[in-house]
Amino acid sequence: MTLEIYLADNSPPTTVCIRRVIPKSIYPKFATNTSAMRRFLLSALALTLTLCANTAFAQLDQLMPVPLSVQPAKGKFRLKDKFEVSIRQKEPTRIDEGAKRFLQRLDGRTALNIPDYATKIAFPVDGLNIIVNRNGKLQLHEDESYKLQVTSSRIMLDAETDIGALRGLETVLQLLSVDEEGFYFPACKIEDAPRFPWRGLLIDVCRHWQPVEVIHRNLDAMAAMKLNVLHWHLSEDQGFRIESKKFPMLHQLGSNGDYFTQEQVKEIIAYADARGIRVVPEFDIPGHATAWFVGHPELASAPGPYTIEKKFGVFDPAMNPANETTYKFLEIFLAEMTALFPDAYFHIGGDENEGKQWDKNPEVAQLKKDKGLKENHDVQAYFNQRLLEFLTEDGKRMVGWDEILQPSIPTNIVIQSWRGKEALKKAAEAGYDVMLSAGLYIDLCQSTAYHYAQDPLPAELQLDKKAQGHVLGGEATMWAELISPETIDSRIWPRTCAIAERFWSAATVQDVDDMYRRLPKVSRDLEELGLMHIRYADVLIRRMARSENTLPLQTLRAVIGPLQGYKRHGQGIAYSTETPLTRLPDIAIPDPTMPREFAAAVDLHIAKADVMQSLVIRNWLELFKNNHHSIEHQAETAPAMRAVLPISQQLQALSVVGIGLLDMLEKGEADAQRKEGYQKTITQARTPVQECEILIVDPIQRLFEKVYGK
Ligand code: ACM
Repeated sequence: MTLEIYLADNSPPTTVCIRRVIPKSIYPKFATNTSAMRRFLLSALALTLTLCANTAFAQLDQLMPVPLSVQPAKGKFRLKDKFEVSIRQKEPTRIDEGAKRFLQRLDGRTALNIPDYATKIAFPVDGLNIIVNRNGKLQLHEDESYKLQVTSSRIMLDAETDIGALRGLETVLQLLSVDEEGFYFPACKIEDAPRFPWRGLLIDVCRHWQPVEVIHRNLDAMAAMKLNVLHWHLSEDQGFRIESKKFPMLHQLGSNGDYFTQEQVKEIIAYADARGIRVVPEFDIPGHATAWFVGHPELASAPGPYTIEKKFGVFDPAMNPANETTYKFLEIFLAEMTALFPDAYFHIGGDENEGKQWDKNPEVAQLKKDKGLKENHDVQAYFNQRLLEFLTEDGKRMVGWDEILQPSIPTNIVIQSWRGKEALKKAAEAGYDVMLSAGLYIDLCQSTAYHYAQDPLPAELQLDKKAQGHVLGGEATMWAELISPETIDSRIWPRTCAIAERFWSAATVQDVDDMYRRLPKVSRDLEELGLMHIRYADVLIRRMARSENTLPLQTLRAVIGPLQGYKRHGQGIAYSTETPLTRLPDIAIPDPTMPREFAAAVDLHIAKADVMQSLVIRNWLELFKNNHHSIEHQAETAPAMRAVLPISQQLQALSVVGIGLLDMLEKGEADAQRKEGYQKTITQARTPVQECEILIVDPIQRLFEKVYGK
């Protein structure tokens, strides 16, 4: 029997579909994201599935990114300890190693000790069968599609390229489900292909050094989320992070010893290649370049000496665009680097050069006169033109931040928009290929929902068809001012899973609640790839608390978030590359789950006077109220925890207010005497402490208004 599934949008109900079997209107009783709603949904699903005699459906409802089309079918492929994988291909491809990694992960998840696979066994086998037509080229627009069919007897994965097959294997892993009999894959038919060809993650390894293992594990996670470009930000004011054999003083004097050797670079490129991920290097010039000048002050627009920058911000040093030595140097350097990086695209940065050194440099004034350049922007366009010649000679396409878009620059470069979507529109309409990073700055600790809403093709821009064709996709950007190798994963994941879905899945996949429903499982599964995004907090907490007991700080952490945007920089600490990143705002994560669930419970209670919700809210508030005593106790022997006391105390006071408000709601009477004090406590709880904020102040304010009126 075919199951009809309803989509949030108006797509036909017979195919596609995994997200919702129940139209929203039949669960209005529960706000989204509460466990009550989940329980209800699950029982409703169970009922629907029984009615439809289709037990596979619910387990299809966990994929991220959502595939193009998913058709549930009847039956389950049971996973036993004998599980063969058979590969049909004309030549060795990435899928040979990919299938091994797949089996290792399956082993790890199921503890079944599945034996090694063989490629020469019969085809098809009663296991996983992979058909690959050809080796994929690691290039933009390569075919990444795949088709997957799971029946109760076998799994068939069919792809034009091995890269498509790798994407399909990730989907198979996500399908792994459990029932009372054990592990199985739900029967289904999936057809999948990405919406955008450029789906990237920028990792800044300069502001804070990120060693090879950080890159490795994040490449694995990118592959799991079907991302396909690592944008490797390799030079900055704070560090020159790659070995140059032509100009060794670049890395020797510009990096404090933390740089990638060329052997490591080759190995990382191969590691990424094996996972179907392109590596695009960025050398940010002419600004953001102080570290270059430590070893090569002759490249700068003002005399040295220079030292590696330790602070963060926008700095004056910029390459000298008026000196031919600069171009000779860059020609040789770029030839070296373009030979090292096989990708067809090469990023030259170009952002935030304010030209302060240029204004004071008589050679630049002369250049302006000689070439008829009016503004510093024109000088930078001239500089970029020269770079473009070198890169074109080296067979590369130039990529840069939106500042490099100048009327004189040819349209065969790629613009990465970061200052706003208007820049993307302007570039696409002018005929440039573009990608979006505005709104995707994951260093700013904004919510997953916020990033999920950033579409590389925003409807409000009203791009015509031609301009739409120039939008390649987008990149999340992991800038590294406030991250260490310990914390970086927690800033990238799991929010970047939602961004990956925006890049891969159909534009109609928009259901924020459903994204949040799927996110925790996907996030947990990333741990098997060595990601630290969940476990790092316990490590930091044990250090801070000088104790095995992580519960008090974990409890506090559930309800706070690091300040968003650039606000962490304005709270008293003058951050530098040497500031420890082991404090409360580093332990706190962006967009934790609990405050969302708390807000939903409060809103339900306000709307319906729901006793269950009241209990849930009260339990949380009691927990937070009492938690402060544990924090105080730990702080006695853990000096680093003392800075946490004020916010913990604020939370305690807020919780006491919340409990008082619940009492009044239950009694149906508002105690006028407490009104002023309560409002004051709520307002005070909004004051950031330790660069963190309490994330349940708004719902408590709503409870207050329910009791006392607005
Ligand atoms: C940038 O954030 N300056 C590209």
